[in-house]
Amino acid sequence: AASDPDLVERARKARATLGDRVFVLGHHYQRDEVIQFADVTGDSFKLARDAAARPEAEYIVFCGVHFMAESADILTGGHQQVVLPDLAAGCSMADMARILQVEDAWTRLEEAGVAAGTVPITYMNSSADIKAFCGRNGGAVCTSSNARQALEWAFAQGEKVLFLPDQHLGRNTAVLQLGLSLDDCVVVDPHKPGFGVTDDELRAAKILLWKGHCSVHGRFTAESVADVRARIPGVNVLVHPECQHEVVLGADYVGSTEYIIKTIAAAPAGSAWAVGTELNLVKRLAAEHPDKTVVFLEKTVCFCATMNRIDLPHLVWALENLVEGRVVNRIEVDDDTAHWARVALDRMLALPG
Ligand code: 13P
Ligand code: SF4
Repeated sequence: AASDPDLVERARKARATLGDRVFVLGHHYQRDEVIQFADVTGDSFKLARDAAARPEAEYIVFCGVHFMAESADILTGGHQQVVLPDLAAGCSMADMARILQVEDAWTRLEEAGVAAGTVPITYMNSSADIKAFCGRNGGAVCTSSNARQALEWAFAQGEKVLFLPDQHLGRNTAVLQLGLSLDDCVVVDPHKPGFGVTDDELRAAKILLWKGHCSVHGRFTAESVADVRARIPGVNVLVHPECQHEVVLGADYVGSTEYIIKTIAAAPAGSAWAVGTELNLVKRLAAEHPDKTVVFLEKTVCFCATMNRIDLPHLVWALENLVEGRVVNRIEVDDDTAHWARVALDRMLALPG
């Protein structure tokens, strides 16, 4: 639906009044009505790199989800005030790993005698305290753009990896990019006694996959891939690595949202693409490339409900408050957590590109 012209005008006015005092970042899954006001758009990795790009801006308005705003606060050293236009914009995957559960799992690894050789790697999609846990324990953060490099780095530091919280990104990267076997992977389930693994399984495994997943990408199935291939002969199937292993195995291309955008942009006119990622992005790609056929991989609608919490009314509210000198919904990470999370984030930023 077209956005309310009155709200568009109010956002434009507030944005213009604030000028260089505000820097607006927008993740690729944001609504069109919001993304039009972003100074920079990107995937999680690009936005983490770009967060500190405008040190002169007093405010960073983060149009994305909570863990991204936390990372922006950490990466800007708390010198800029980071605002998340709706505090309810969380991430169900990030919520699947709580710090107390992760600490208990680490104790479980210590008791099995494997913690010392294990490097914890957390996907960007996790709370700041889990990033800090990784920083304190010799580990790092990764995103879907650099999971391969992060795992290669980790296996150079130790013989095992604890991968948090997305089992699918961990499994897809380990098996399809590092050449590990499915038998090298074991799932660590925080809801089962003893995390659902025996000491022998923990000792034998190379990668311990936390049982988390993305509620959006987890919905694509191998049948979605078979259906679209039957419907559109010659279609290229392009999916995000948060999809289940069977879906990624059945796809032609796999990569982060930034990779997906570049792949469609570089594709020849007339080619057909079925894309397995969040729907706002797929719709935008279809609109931007009318010379190509770009369809959603699933027949049903699949937005990220929490990304969609950031809508034009919330953005206007946040910007107009800043104009009035009120910082609403500030996201601030405490100093100790920020220090150790920064250690883990910096290890990611230092990975070879
Ligand atoms: P990327 O931005 O790394 O592609 O991850 C997608 C995602 O689910 C963000 O929440
Ligand atoms: Fe979280 Fe998935 Fe939404 Fe990304 S798309 S914010 S991983 S629920």
